[in-house]
Amino acid sequence: MTGADRPLKYVLVTGAAQRIGAVIARTLAAQGYGVVIHYRRSATAAKALQAELLAAGGRAVLCDADLADPAEAETLIDRAAIALGEPLYALINNASLFEFDRAGTVSRGSLEQHFRTNLMAPVLLARQLVEQLPQGVTGAIVNLLDQKLANPNPDFFSYSLSRYALAGATTLMAQEFAGRCRVNAVAPGITLPSAGQSEAEFQSVAAYNLLGRVSSPEHVAAAVGMLLNSPAINGQCIWVDGGQRFMDQRRDVMFLGGQA
Ligand SMILES: NC(=O)c1ccc[n+]([C@@H]2O[C@H](COP(=O)([O-])OP(=O)(O)OC[C@H]3O[C@@H](n4cnc5c(N)ncnc54)[C@H](OP(=O)(O)O)[C@@H]3O)[C@@H](O)[C@H]2O)c1
Repeated sequence: MTGADRPLKYVLVTGAAQRIGAVIARTLAAQGYGVVIHYRRSATAAKALQAELLAAGGRAVLCDADLADPAEAETLIDRAAIALGEPLYALINNASLFEFDRAGTVSRGSLEQHFRTNLMAPVLLARQLVEQLPQGVTGAIVNLLDQKLANPNPDFFSYSLSRYALAGATTLMAQEFAGRCRVNAVAPGITLPSAGQSEAEFQSVAAYNLLGRVSSPEHVAAAVGMLLNSPAINGQCIWVDGGQRFMDQRRDVMFLGGQA
């Protein structure tokens, strides 16, 4: 079946302008999905990605929102459906805040920002997605998590707590929405340099997993696409980490250069 023959379905990818989100958007567009590219600050990259998907014969629209603002999160699905002129069938909760703190330095502001962006927004978006699904359509949601959940260390405390909460929400929403929408998760291992990590620092630790191979954004996106296209899978988490979660890491992997 060529791209043009495929029945188009419509998916919102949050934080899709760059990095892993952009690769997920490209991967789903290549599978025939019409894509809403959500962005916050990366307008230029979002527009470039939209132009790329349109040039390849796909359907792509843009929607911006600050997901740390619940009022903006609560209207994003409606705005995305209006921009598309179609209801959405699927949601990829990829956008995230990843800032350093530890239990000993945590602030109310850090907790609040991580929970607003990484938990409250995905959950509000999920509720709205389900509310607007057309009759007879089973929707699908994929939440991006982190291998850190199975391999904990005290770094990035607020971020990690928000990820534990979203993992729990994945299970609860899979139960609540059963029959109307499947809810699954993908938990990447270290995939791209983060939080000021240099390329050299990233390369020194990126293959620190059981396979001894670097996971790529394309590996993550393939798992997202598989979950969207698997009608019998609900409440599942796919770990795309080469087995990093089985390594005993006392610090976040970005601090293990030379030791990994
Ligand atoms: N990178 C890794 O190695 C890795 C490892 C484990 C898990 N993950 C997970 O995989 C996903 C993608 O990772 P990534 O590294 O590609 O993500 P990222 O670059 O850290 O963030 C993706 C996007 O999230 C958006 N975002 C952040 N705060 C936002 C807010 N308040 N409102 C709206 N958008 C906001 C930003 O959009 P704008 O640029 O438009 O502002 C950003 O480009 C994340 O959920 C992450 O936790 C990644």
